[in-house]
Amino acid sequence: MSMISADSLPDLIRHEIHKRSGWMGFDQYMDMALYAPGLGYYSGPRSPFGAEGDFVTAAAISPSYGACVARQIVQVLDAIGSDDVLEFGAGDGRLAAQILDYARSINRPMHYQIIELSAGLRLLQQERLKAGSAEDFGQLRWLERLPEGGFRGVMLAHELLDAMPVRLFVYRHPDRHTHRHPDQQQWYERGLSNSAGHDGGGLCFADRPADAHWSAKLEALKRACQQTWPEDWPDGMLIEWHEQAQAWTRSVCDALEQGLLLVVDYGFPAHEYYLPRRQQGTLMTHQAHRAGTDLLANPGTQDLSVHVDFTAVARVALEQGMQLSGYCTQARFLFNTGILDIATASAAQEPHRTSPAALSRLAGLQKLLSEAEMGELFKFMALSRGLDSLDLIGFQQGDRSGRLGLDAC
Ligand SMILES: C[S@@+](CC[C@H](N)C(=O)[O-])C[C@H]1O[C@@H](n2cnc3c(N)ncnc32)[C@H](O)[C@@H]1O
Repeated sequence: MSMISADSLPDLIRHEIHKRSGWMGFDQYMDMALYAPGLGYYSGPRSPFGAEGDFVTAAAISPSYGACVARQIVQVLDAIGSDDVLEFGAGDGRLAAQILDYARSINRPMHYQIIELSAGLRLLQQERLKAGSAEDFGQLRWLERLPEGGFRGVMLAHELLDAMPVRLFVYRHPDRHTHRHPDQQQWYERGLSNSAGHDGGGLCFADRPADAHWSAKLEALKRACQQTWPEDWPDGMLIEWHEQAQAWTRSVCDALEQGLLLVVDYGFPAHEYYLPRRQQGTLMTHQAHRAGTDLLANPGTQDLSVHVDFTAVARVALEQGMQLSGYCTQARFLFNTGILDIATASAAQEPHRTSPAALSRLAGLQKLLSEAEMGELFKFMALSRGLDSLDLIGFQQGDRSGRLGLDAC
């Protein structure tokens, strides 16, 4: 990214497009819109989390959520004799606080480390976690990079991959364009150009032919997905390619000597993701608790996020010698780790079962578990190394690993 001074993020993006001879890949745009130092959505001064922000994530919906995640973490730490947890992209630190609360409630020592890309969010996490137990704070550390010499413990990526930039490709159907020869270019990469010169003009999408390397990868994806869903992809079908998420998975799996990488996010297996009915892709904006699709509007002030291709994540981990130890829906993981027991125990301490606080806790549980809300769309994936035959509590029932299509897509 260039180091020029610019008044605003749109100016900086326009300048960057100009510098790159008039075209910039969508992944580079998404990276700037979310993470440009001081100006990007996650690196600006404002917190996007909670009622005052743009969206809420699971830990803010129910305090029982973090306890469930903690139960899974503790099972693995106990099995391998480690205290180490490493969370990536901890947002406002709420999930870390709940996990540490649970560990304290059962007297389980935990050495909690966080790698956070945004300097502003790192401060927010430090404020929240400092305000908790001083004893916990002593066990907390923020790291700049992956620990050297191998990590033994549990790594946690909670709604991290959905915030990683994707490349965008467009499929052009040869038959629908009779003026083109059938074997002419079918794959285009979607990027951005300046609609009216680099200063003053707006941003607009611009497609350019994908090179042979990308065309071959995309053809392979199409062939593999069509083994499950034979219908041809429609003209204009948009493919989100999670290059950064795959590179990140490769490097953290490489660093995990023994333990668990727990990936939690919204998404699907590849053959459910790249479907004709999802031909517009899954990229979304969020601002003030409203979802939208205008990806180029007001960069830096709205969230951009994408669903996760869990088949691709699992495949990269397997290539790094990891095991797939489970893949299930959020509802299933929470039932398996005892959310109903945890919630019943905390409700028993509530003097008035119909108080607004008690009712709001019930509504929170309903949101986390309901198929129509987060229960089905959000998934938990367990990738492990050196856990032998440990039966992970969160995945004991309802495991859907077989649906990932790892032999095909
Ligand atoms: C959608 S938020 C999720 C926050 C939190 N995990 C939660 O579930 O509430 C994404 C978080 O990941 C951080 N992030 C994105 N890419 C990262 C990376 N490569 N390494 C560390 N943190 C990253 C962002 O700054 C932000 O804190």
